[in-house]
Amino acid sequence: MSVINTNFAKLPGNYLFAEIAARKARYLADNPGARLINMGIGDVTRPLSPAVIAAMHAAVDEMSKAETFKGYSPDGGYPFLRELISEHDFKSRGADIAPDEIFISDGAKSDCANISDIFSPDCVVAVCDPVYPVYVDSNAMAGRAGSYTGDKWDKLVYLPCTSGNGFVPELPSVKADMIYLCYPNNPTGAAITFGELKKWVDYARANDSVILYDAAYEAFISTPGVPHSIFEIPGAEYCAIEFRSFSKTAGFTGTRCAYTVVPKKLERDGMSLHAMWSRRQATKFNGVPYVVQRGAAAVYSPQGRKETEETIAYYKNNAKNIREILQASGIKCIGGTDSPYIWVTLPSGLDSWTAFDRILAEANVATTPGAGFGSCGEGFLRLTAFGEPDDTIIAAERIARLLK
Ligand code: MLT
Repeated sequence: MSVINTNFAKLPGNYLFAEIAARKARYLADNPGARLINMGIGDVTRPLSPAVIAAMHAAVDEMSKAETFKGYSPDGGYPFLRELISEHDFKSRGADIAPDEIFISDGAKSDCANISDIFSPDCVVAVCDPVYPVYVDSNAMAGRAGSYTGDKWDKLVYLPCTSGNGFVPELPSVKADMIYLCYPNNPTGAAITFGELKKWVDYARANDSVILYDAAYEAFISTPGVPHSIFEIPGAEYCAIEFRSFSKTAGFTGTRCAYTVVPKKLERDGMSLHAMWSRRQATKFNGVPYVVQRGAAAVYSPQGRKETEETIAYYKNNAKNIREILQASGIKCIGGTDSPYIWVTLPSGLDSWTAFDRILAEANVATTPGAGFGSCGEGFLRLTAFGEPDDTIIAAERIARLLK
């Protein structure tokens, strides 16, 4: 018997964004004074908006007085924030999600990984390929992925997302118990229509699967008919959990605030997944700071909404510039319309880690190699639109010159 979780020994290499950070650091150590432009990890650059900052300052003042000081947050988060989310993010879109079905957390990344606690180690897990690596790595750590065989895990069900299917996968050919979907998609930037998502909800209901729906990028949707939440699809409350985040929406990557929706109607084997997640969080999580939850609540104020929309428009304008500069050089790319990510097709014969290293060294731009998201990502590169506008244009022009 081993005393450690030997699944960790099966993990190949570093976590993707740790590997990218290490390569950037090595390059900077060898080339002191080089100025890299970041189009790699999707980290925001705009500051928290004035409405959010004002709410956080006021909350800090409350923490300084005995009469208004707050200790532990209530389990699941403060009602003032859960009520705003229920109203603005769900009920306004016809999705009947109650405040107590919303669990405030410190990140969609941690929730996507931690949700694994409430599922059987024997579940069959389906993931898109390419995919946000957290879904794969966290299931590998939990022992659901099997063994890594070069470029795949032998127990995962891979759902290829290619230009042939518009980067929206076909339904699995074997029965999957847990299905991770992320729309608007990280990394491809593709969106899913109401009709396409309904097929997944129908599949999940027919097969008793649970869809783990990552909607961290919903604020970037502008195409009409693209659902912002899986709970806009009738019946999803019986088969889905949704992850949302204030990170990319309102600049909370460093401040940390997100939420997960587990509907009360979601049950398997006579157990309520809502009750299980509630139990899990109460045992393992002590909540998001009051000051941060007040900041997140301000995102829903009229001023906060206006400021957040301006920031999203700023990033989407970057995305448009990246797309137009690349396409003007004859480089194929998708995404950026309903998402902050652009998925670039590399010239044939150029693999994505070689492209990453060349672009880093010759264009001084950090990108993300498509292969880092799975074998179907080979031959692609992901660019992010979270930078400063002038730098974004410079970086896109340098990449266009290198790849054309
Ligand atoms: C990304 O670049 O894919 C994201 O920033 C990663 C994350 O949100 O954890």
